[in-house]
Amino acid sequence: MALDQMDRQSLSARPSPALSGRVRAPGDKSISHRALILAALAVGESRIDGLLESEDVLATRAAVQALGAETERLGAGAWRVVGRGGFDQPDQVLDCGNSGTAVRLLMGAVAGYPIEVRFDGDASLRGRPMGRVGEPLVQMGARVSGDRLPLTVGGGGHFGGRLTAIHWRSKAASAQVKSAILLAGLNADGVTSVTEPAASRDHTERMLPLFGVEVRRDGLTASVTGGQSLTAADLTVPGDPSSAAFPLAAGLMIPGSRVTVEGVMLNPSRTGLFETLIEMGADLVIENERQQGGEAVGDITARGSRLKGVEVPRGRAASMIDEYPILAVLASSAEGTTVMRGLEELRVKESDRISGTAAMLRACGVAVDEEPGGMIVHGQGRPPAGGATIATHGDHRLAMGALVLGLAAARPVSVDRPEMIATSFPGFVDLMRGLGAEITG
Ligand code: S3P
Repeated sequence: MALDQMDRQSLSARPSPALSGRVRAPGDKSISHRALILAALAVGESRIDGLLESEDVLATRAAVQALGAETERLGAGAWRVVGRGGFDQPDQVLDCGNSGTAVRLLMGAVAGYPIEVRFDGDASLRGRPMGRVGEPLVQMGARVSGDRLPLTVGGGGHFGGRLTAIHWRSKAASAQVKSAILLAGLNADGVTSVTEPAASRDHTERMLPLFGVEVRRDGLTASVTGGQSLTAADLTVPGDPSSAAFPLAAGLMIPGSRVTVEGVMLNPSRTGLFETLIEMGADLVIENERQQGGEAVGDITARGSRLKGVEVPRGRAASMIDEYPILAVLASSAEGTTVMRGLEELRVKESDRISGTAAMLRACGVAVDEEPGGMIVHGQGRPPAGGATIATHGDHRLAMGALVLGLAAARPVSVDRPEMIATSFPGFVDLMRGLGAEITG
């Protein structure tokens, strides 16, 4: 379905027969943002293949273009980016839409240049905390006008344009915070380092060296030395495990299904969901492991499975932070209780994903206990009742989770604001229909 066709009031998923087929995972969203930003900061021409052309990533593309890079689409997912070795003063507000990754990484990246950049976003992004990035940037010598969008970042340090290097202890295991500080650190007068309370996704640390920048990693600390320049690079974006999770979940939930998603990135900082599902008894097989764009990828096959509830280790939260809504959906038809804790960060995602997920499941007849930083889903050992219209709060992952639930429930499930799915997975409806899913608009 084309994006404009998806711009309608609601979408509905009906209980579907067994799904089957092989599909390709769309490009990874986190790596796509970073590829554009790093290529824009480099000197010369980079070529990116497999770029995710979702609204979030296209917001980053427009932003780097406004900051002086040249970007050109060569074909589906194929982009040429010509960087100028730094950023120029944009003559427009950088509208980051729904994307926390776009605004937070760019706040860090622009802070090292003597420019003033105004950032804005949609209603969801305007409600999300930016002080977690603003505070360290201010310590480095940048000026940041507030904790919420719209805000302005005034770059350059107090002395001659350079920022001051810092050692930052992050309160949350956030790759966006870590990445913003490391990107600012590229223009600081010494070694900038970030220590996290737990390991978040490490794409920035893995990708900077592809562009010629050395990153030191020591346990939970990552450091860069300022003054290194980036050189252009070519890279292929691996498939997004967070998007692959939805068709795979549908394959697990619908009896008799066999769904293969090809080219899924297997970076251990992203695969917590798959580990958890295997513990729950999922028939999930990873084959054909290979390297792509500096990451391991594989083809994952999910077959209809009877799952059992588990307690997800808190220490795994960062490696599956975006996957809790779909895990909760899967847990709703598992045998027994699934306990998910250590999820305080879910309150400040594209929506409050703890309350949104709990409300979605309850509307579909599933018992859920909500905690300040967690949720407990009481699985019924059979498909949930369904038969509800779900308020997605404009959250793409709640929308896709609810539609997967509807495919496996006793009665259809509808979602509002389905157009938000295009922020991360524009081809979702077509891809699911190709597997046999009954989704109607
Ligand atoms: C992302 C980091 C995570 C994740 C988001 C993408 C990234 O956010 O939820 O979807 O690309 O760095 P936090 O860094 O806030 O945990």
